[in-house]
Amino acid sequence: MTINHPNFGAIADDRVIIFDTTLRDGEQSPGFSMNLDEKLRMAEALADLGVDVIEAGFPIASQGDFESVRRIAESIHGPVITGLARSGREDILRAAEAVKPAERKRIHTFISTSPLHMKYKLRMEPEAVLEAVGRSVALAREFTDDVEWSAEDGSRTEPDFLCRCVEAAISAGASTINIPDTVGYAVPADIARIFSMLRERVPGADGVIFSTHNHNDLGLAVANTLAAVNAGARQIECTINGIGERAGNAALEEVVMAIRTRRDAVPFNNGIETTKILRTSKLLAAITGFDVQPNKAIVGRNAFAHESGIHQDGVLKNAATYEIMTPESVGWQKTSLVLGKHSGRAAFRDKLRALGYGEVGDNALNDAFRRFKDLADRKKLVYDEDITALFDETVVRDQSRIKFISLEVWSGSKAKPRAVLELEVDGVRHEQEAFGDGPVDATFNAIRAISPHEAELRLFTVGAVTEGTDAQARCGVRLEESGKLVDGQGADTDTIVAAARAYIHALNKLMVKRARTEPAALSA
Ligand code: KIV
Ligand code: ZN
Repeated sequence: MTINHPNFGAIADDRVIIFDTTLRDGEQSPGFSMNLDEKLRMAEALADLGVDVIEAGFPIASQGDFESVRRIAESIHGPVITGLARSGREDILRAAEAVKPAERKRIHTFISTSPLHMKYKLRMEPEAVLEAVGRSVALAREFTDDVEWSAEDGSRTEPDFLCRCVEAAISAGASTINIPDTVGYAVPADIARIFSMLRERVPGADGVIFSTHNHNDLGLAVANTLAAVNAGARQIECTINGIGERAGNAALEEVVMAIRTRRDAVPFNNGIETTKILRTSKLLAAITGFDVQPNKAIVGRNAFAHESGIHQDGVLKNAATYEIMTPESVGWQKTSLVLGKHSGRAAFRDKLRALGYGEVGDNALNDAFRRFKDLADRKKLVYDEDITALFDETVVRDQSRIKFISLEVWSGSKAKPRAVLELEVDGVRHEQEAFGDGPVDATFNAIRAISPHEAELRLFTVGAVTEGTDAQARCGVRLEESGKLVDGQGADTDTIVAAARAYIHALNKLMVKRARTEPAALSA
């Protein structure tokens, strides 16, 4: 049967809706906070990638969350924009206000339905939860025809009770019913059974879209997602690079490429332009400072690398021997360019394209090119990893409140370590001299003097971007403030500058995080 959806109209039975929650479920996981500009950049990239729905945030969570959802609703055209709300009135009103300007809007409301969550988290009786389902969906419908209802911890919910909740949500006017595997506990057979049961037993089930939302605690999020689709789900909730609570959500790139590559096993269509996958993944990594692991499917740097002689030989004779999809189909490009100090802007732009950054604006290109020339003066060969580190530093973090300007350090076996640091904070330049037990300590003391804070340094790491003594250093800093953890990364040929950049990156993330107090489990 063809479903008539308020925002999508008649949806063909073989079309799956791609619902991206990178900016909500993904962003709320440790270390992944983004500021308003970063969220807007990501939302633009997601729209360009062709996602159908962007879950832009959790508007009641903080003023910052509200504003990001609102700004995305105002400025992003194409996808449906949604905001998350618990079942209480205040949440739903806040979400409604935030998504109001969107061309196409949705309110996504949820409540826990499993015995464990109802008893210990909500402290509510099942009948009260059931009543809240109908009430919350009906309230959300006053603001939009497109309402999604989710049964939190749905996969661990008693089947009869789940059917009653879903029926209540449909009767109250929900057009999408999402059954999350909130704790990543289910295996594919469980997920298939749940969707088949709901479609068979719940009155009105044939008039709504069923949605699947899987966490990756057992590494099964993608497998569970595909099982759900084969059992009748027609909306997939996923995130770029699989980021999300704990072990993350189903990775958009993996689900989409599995559907595309194994059409025989998962015969469905979606609107994703797969050649834009890599650049979206890279943008997220650059914004958050978290690279995907090298062996990450689709977007990891080894995903299409063939090391063994036998494999290389096979691929040269016929790529299909060891490649089930082409690297180009997800945005990798072939390049033979090695950059050095004589390389020009055109070669540099070409390299950025090949690395998956797509078309880069002139200002961003100029800034990055200036820093590349500087790097090439200090380093004989500039590798892809150097360009990635440099581009992420210069361009992607350009909107941060605290910016690194310069650093001079004096240290040695006899000298008292001393740092003179220049930062820009909210557009104002500050210079500070500080001493410490070593050059890094002196530098961090200077940062603390310019931007005082209570956060404790929990971890400091130093590594190299590439090999050789002229390699760029990549430093990591973890800060903790009132139980909130943030991680920052920084790269530079000077290790102390890389450390300063990493600390500043973490501090910028902390500022975003401070503005947010995670809402507790609200009773309806
Ligand atoms: O994992 C989950 O249950 C969720 C819901 C709020 C949709 O993220
Ligand atoms: Zn989730």
